[in-house]
Amino acid sequence: MAREKWNSKLGFILAASGSAVGLGNLWKFPYETYSNGGSAFIFVYLLATILVGLPIMMAEIFIGKSTNKNPIGAFKTLHPSAWHIIGWLGIASGFVILSYYSVVGGWTLRYFLQTLTGAYLSMNQEQVASDFGSFVQDGMAQILFHTVFMFMIVGIVILGVRKGIELAGKILMPMLFIILLILVVMAIQTSGFYQSILYLFYPDFSKITTNSIIESMGQSFFSLSLGMGAIITYGSYMQKNEPIIKDAITIVFFDTMVAIMACLMIFPILFTFELKPNASIGILFSTLPLLFLKMPGGIVIGPLFFLLVIFAALTSGVSLLEVVVSYFIDEKGWNRKKATIVIGMAIWILGFPSALSNGGWSWLSGMKWIGERNFFDSLDYLASSWMLPIGGIFIAIFTGWIVSKEIRNESFAKDHDGFYNVIVFLLKYVSPLLVFLVLLNVTGIL
Ligand code: PHE
Repeated sequence: MAREKWNSKLGFILAASGSAVGLGNLWKFPYETYSNGGSAFIFVYLLATILVGLPIMMAEIFIGKSTNKNPIGAFKTLHPSAWHIIGWLGIASGFVILSYYSVVGGWTLRYFLQTLTGAYLSMNQEQVASDFGSFVQDGMAQILFHTVFMFMIVGIVILGVRKGIELAGKILMPMLFIILLILVVMAIQTSGFYQSILYLFYPDFSKITTNSIIESMGQSFFSLSLGMGAIITYGSYMQKNEPIIKDAITIVFFDTMVAIMACLMIFPILFTFELKPNASIGILFSTLPLLFLKMPGGIVIGPLFFLLVIFAALTSGVSLLEVVVSYFIDEKGWNRKKATIVIGMAIWILGFPSALSNGGWSWLSGMKWIGERNFFDSLDYLASSWMLPIGGIFIAIFTGWIVSKEIRNESFAKDHDGFYNVIVFLLKYVSPLLVFLVLLNVTGIL
C-alpha cells in the first residue's frame, strides 16, 4: 500500500501545530514559569526557542520530508550508519512520554465532566484546590481516565494520516485558539491582571537560575515536540517540493503564542485570588474553575475550555503514538490497525505506575525514583531533561554536519540562501553547544 500523505500544506501545518500545542503549553508551561520566577523563565525560554527550537524544527521537517520515512528509516536513508540510533531514542521517548501524558490527558477529561455538570458551582476556592488533591489520590479514577484517554488516541491513529490526524488538527486547532482568546480577554478584566503582566514580562534577570535554564530548554523541546522524531514523522507525510521555512516559523510562533496566552489566562486568577505558590502541577486545574465561576457565561465556557484542552492533548498524544506506529508500519510491515492496537496497549500499561504515583497507591507515591521525584515526575524529568535534548543535539549535528549538502539541494535552500546559512550555522554550532552545556549542567559537571 502506498504511504499516506497530507491532503494539503495547511493540513500539515495544523497537524504539526496540533502536535506542538498540547499539555506542554497549557499545563506544564504555566507551572514551570511559576516555579522559576516568572519573567526570567519566559525570557530564557524564548531565547532557547529561537536559538535551538526553530533550527531543530526545520531540521526535523527536512529529515522527514526528504526521506518520507519514520525516524529510524529516515536516518538510515539519509546516511546508512549508526545515526539511526537517534531514531530509536525517539521511539523510546514516544513510549515514555505518552505513558504519563495520557494520565494528565485523563485529568482533562475529568475536569470537562466536572465543569459540565456544574460541580464547582457550589465550591469555594479552597474546595476547588483540594478537589484536585483528592482526585489525583483516587487510584481507580486515575486509571479509568487514563484508559479512556488512551482509547481515544488509539481511535484517531487507527483512522490514519488524513482521516484521523489531519482532520483532527484542522477542526480542533482553530477552535482552541478562539476559545483561548476569549479566556484571555476575560482574565484581562480581573484585578490581578496588571500584577501578572509585571510578573510575566518585567525583566528581572537576577531570577535566572541554573534550574530555570535547564527547565526552559527541556520545555522548549517538549513543547515544540522536538528531539524525538514526531516532527520527522509528520514531515514525512509532506508532499515533495514545498519550502519549509515558513511552515517551521508558523508552527513555532503558534506554539509559543499559546504557551504565553495560557499564562495570561492563569496568572491573573492566581493573583486575583491570592492562591498559594504550591499550586505546581495542579495549577491549570485548580485555578481555572475559579475563573469560570466568576465570569459571565462561565458555565458554558468552562466545559468548552476543558473540551479544547482535551483536543489539544489528543492531537499531541496522537503524534506521540504515530511516531512508534509509523516505525512498525514502515519497517516491520505491520498494518496500521495491528500496530496501533498493540503499541497503544503497551503504552497504556506503562502508564499505570504514573497514574498511581500521585497518591493513588501510597507505597508507590512514597517511592522516589530520580532524586526526590516520584514515578510520574521521574518519567517527565527523564524525557524532557534528557531524552529530548540528547535527541535534539544529535539531530542538529546530523543535519548541520552530515547532510548539510542535501539540504542545500532542497528548494527552500536555493530560494532563501541567507536564511539557510543562518540556520545551518545555528545547527552546526549554536544549538548543539547550548544543549550540551545545559546537559553538562544537569549532570553537575559544570
Ligand atoms: N508538544 C506536546 C505538548 O506540548 C507534547 C509532545 C512532546 C508531543 C513530544 C510530541 C512529542 O503537549
